[in-house]
Amino acid sequence: MRVLVTSALPYVNNIPHLGNLIPVLSADVFARFKRLKGEETLYICGTDEHGTATETVAMREGMTPQEVCDKYYKIHKESYEWLNISFDHFGRTSRPYQHKITQHIFLKLYENGYIFERELEQTYCPSCERFLADRYIEGECPHCGYEHARGDQCENCGKVYDSKDLINAKCSICGERPIIKKTQHLFLDLPQFEECLLDFIEERKSVWSNNAVNFSIAWIKEGLEPRCITRDLEWGVHVPLPGWEHKVFYVWFDACIGYISITQEYCHETHTDWEEWWKDPDNVLLYQFMGKDNIPFHTVIFPATLMGTRERYTLLNQISVNEYITYEGGAFSKSRGIGVFCDDVMSSGLPPDVWRYYLYINRPEKQDSDFYWEDLQEKTNTELVGNLGNFVYRTLSFAHRYLDGHIAEQELNEQDRIFLQDIAQQIDSAEQALEACELKTALKTIMVICRMGNQYFQEHEPWKQKDTREKTVYVCANVVAKLAILLEPYIPQTSQTMWNQLNLSQPRVWNLARTLPVSHTTIEAPELLFTPIEDEFILKMKAKYGGKTVELKQPIPYEHFEKLDLRVGEIVKAESHPNADKLVVLTVNIGQPVTVVAGIKQWYDPSDLVGKKVVLLANLEPITLRGVKSNGMILAAQDSSGVSLLSPDKPVAPGSKVL
Ligand code: MF3
Ligand code: ZN
Repeated sequence: MRVLVTSALPYVNNIPHLGNLIPVLSADVFARFKRLKGEETLYICGTDEHGTATETVAMREGMTPQEVCDKYYKIHKESYEWLNISFDHFGRTSRPYQHKITQHIFLKLYENGYIFERELEQTYCPSCERFLADRYIEGECPHCGYEHARGDQCENCGKVYDSKDLINAKCSICGERPIIKKTQHLFLDLPQFEECLLDFIEERKSVWSNNAVNFSIAWIKEGLEPRCITRDLEWGVHVPLPGWEHKVFYVWFDACIGYISITQEYCHETHTDWEEWWKDPDNVLLYQFMGKDNIPFHTVIFPATLMGTRERYTLLNQISVNEYITYEGGAFSKSRGIGVFCDDVMSSGLPPDVWRYYLYINRPEKQDSDFYWEDLQEKTNTELVGNLGNFVYRTLSFAHRYLDGHIAEQELNEQDRIFLQDIAQQIDSAEQALEACELKTALKTIMVICRMGNQYFQEHEPWKQKDTREKTVYVCANVVAKLAILLEPYIPQTSQTMWNQLNLSQPRVWNLARTLPVSHTTIEAPELLFTPIEDEFILKMKAKYGGKTVELKQPIPYEHFEKLDLRVGEIVKAESHPNADKLVVLTVNIGQPVTVVAGIKQWYDPSDLVGKKVVLLANLEPITLRGVKSNGMILAAQDSSGVSLLSPDKPVAPGSKVL
């Protein structure tokens, strides 16, 4: 069987945060594991470029959708390269292959009678003069009442609905109340697939995770409804029917097809045949990795889309779903500067494998998990530095120092054989876990092997027991080699370093971990694999990106404070920002008028702000926030109850310096 691995195609209108990395990292471990086992493997991913979100960002950043995609495609690609993600191809859904195959699949569905046309009444914003795609509509969730529900899926309760059903809806571009207007659309007749889909899921039930099975069956049993697959937009794959030239396919109709078109592009470049992957269900196992909100698209809608072509596509075999990661107990927000994003990860100074290890050992598998800087420090220092790094270093440096670097085969006794059998058992269970996509469990098991190695070294006291020290080093060096193989999917750079330190040249393959790969080798003085993360680093990161307990232990020099030009100012004008719901545009008089954009709309009504005295940081580098230039910041205090502006408690002339 060939192994086809995908991770959900990320939207390309943002810089990915740690949580967004999970599907990509998960699929990477799995693909690397399968390659190590010698199975023919293809790992496909790329950016999901269509949809209204791209148009929104384009509007906000003053670019065309294509420019937005180009910009963020580059950022995504660089981030994943930095993390050593082993895609065979990382493509894009805006490429010609995508348009072609999407239109082909659609026409097949159309010919086979799975598409019908219906007139819809849709939300239209009269002031923006456009139909409001889901993302542009904001209101209360019809299921749980969550107030800031957007689009067609509630981020609070996860339910999918028609955005028309949002309560008290408003246009999120201009805030206007939208009207309802008629428009023609095409529908995929999902109810026709109910039986095939239930059979399809039944066949795969034993390999899918519980949440994927339960969610999908419930989704079907609640009653499948026809899905509208077109939108009144320009950016996207155009509908290939006469009279429909001005409509495009809904982003989720073409997104999953991206897996196929990206494979086509890859196969074109490598002179291979894409149908060997996507039209060969008997010989290909398709493994798909994604976040939990993507489940129904992969277990119901995409399989139905492919079944409806009657072309025998390769369908999903194993689905691996992850939950979410939060940041220091809260949500990631690029705009508020909270959380760690890929650009921060790359500039952090920590190596890729430290990030990889932490994200795998904390992988949100059965429930959400949380990122804490202190936890990153603690896990790195105890597990990577203290357990793995220490074991490898003490073994190899001992060999180098006391045995001239020579490691050679030794006679083993009964006890050693039992020790190695115990390790073999751990390798079996790691392998089973990996096969079942239980990536965190497998990693924990591998780290147990490392602990066993450390213990063996400790108990055999090679620094004291001169007559057995060659054997101790031989056994431990073999455990190091096994670990280098087993850890390759998780921390590939470190694995390579370990292999180099052992001075081994044969390729790492999974089954080699079941043997004793080191029989004769000469090694150099080893370098430490990892360095501990210091407290100062953690403090710095938390101060920069937000964190629970920001204590300023380190005093800042007076000269730094002196550079801040703080002034008393009077707010003379305040109005809502035209393109952002959380921002207010203020004119502050400090002897001269200064425009600043402040994120305080949630806490202050603009009309209440005029006349207030505030403290303004007046010599900050200007920044443009959603099209309005801001020339400073006003100071406020924040606690759990909200935000409060700082104000002088006696009448002071505007422009007075704050000391
Ligand atoms: N872009 C979607 C998201 O980030 C995932 C799309 S997966 C695909 O949630 F396969 F459909 F592309
Ligand atoms: Zn509007």
